[in-house]
Amino acid sequence: MAQNLDHFRSEQLVITTDPKSPAAEAYRTLRTNLQFSSLDRPLKTLLITSSGPGEGKTTIASNLGGAFAQAGKTVILVGADMRKPTLHTVFGLDNRVGLSNVLTGHMKLENALRKTMQHGLLVLPSGPIPPNPAELLGTQRMRDLVQELTGYADLVIFDAPPVIAVTDAGILAQMVDGTLFVVSLGTTPREVAQSAVEQLQQVGARVLGAVANRLENGSGYYYYYYTSYYGEEDAASVPWWRRLFRGNAGGVPKKASRQAAMARDD
Ligand SMILES: Nc1ncnc2c1ncn2[C@@H]1O[C@H](COP(=O)(O)OP(=O)(O)OP(=O)(O)O)[C@@H](O)[C@H]1O
Ligand SMILES: [Mg+2]
Repeated sequence: MAQNLDHFRSEQLVITTDPKSPAAEAYRTLRTNLQFSSLDRPLKTLLITSSGPGEGKTTIASNLGGAFAQAGKTVILVGADMRKPTLHTVFGLDNRVGLSNVLTGHMKLENALRKTMQHGLLVLPSGPIPPNPAELLGTQRMRDLVQELTGYADLVIFDAPPVIAVTDAGILAQMVDGTLFVVSLGTTPREVAQSAVEQLQQVGARVLGAVANRLENGSGYYYYYYTSYYGEEDAASVPWWRRLFRGNAGGVPKKASRQAAMARDD
């Protein structure tokens, strides 16, 4: 199928621009694992966050959204990082209107939603940077908007700010069905990741699992997904980032925790 992909920052959206690549395959496996991890209730709203900046949240949110859209779902990606809006750039969109306008009541949601070149994938950009992102996110209007968004899509994915330093991600995590935590191997310090996950869990977030980004193996970057529960017998052999969620089983079937995807992203 021929597509005009000029609009994309193609290196970031491999799921659409290079669907046969190992990285795209890893995103499809991540999609499958998420479907497994939410058997106890349907996953309609998902938050992507990490402890610090630049760890791959926006990249993973965008490609995962694309993977679900390719499976026939209608997906809305929400630029929920109103402090550092970048989601729109992945899709070659502008950021003139978006979430901040909808939250302040200056625009209807349906007028702010944007189509992308990926069929079934819509984007709500962050919009102009507001003076008070955390306040806006903590409003009843935001809660209502989360519900409203689910009326337009099978799955709503929120590209959130990092957990450390600002409260935005913790506020949003309380409004969604599940949270995925991105770990950038080699750059995310273990203690910082641990503390960020604890912060999320303390506010009642349902942390589904971790996606390890930049898991290097020889010549390229790898993505790797793991759900939140693992058996006691695994404790000694699993890497630290897979142990972030110990004791937070959340009803995840044990079998699903063994399912993982690895692929090169070059
Ligand atoms: N696995 C990867 N391989 C190569 N480049 C990557 C990978 N993951 C992320 N990047 C690049 O790293 C940069 C930061 O990624 P991204 O914007 O997705 O991170 P982020 O966590 O959303 O950052 P921020 O906290 O600033 O919002 C981008 O230029 C992206 O293209
Ligand atoms: Mg980002």
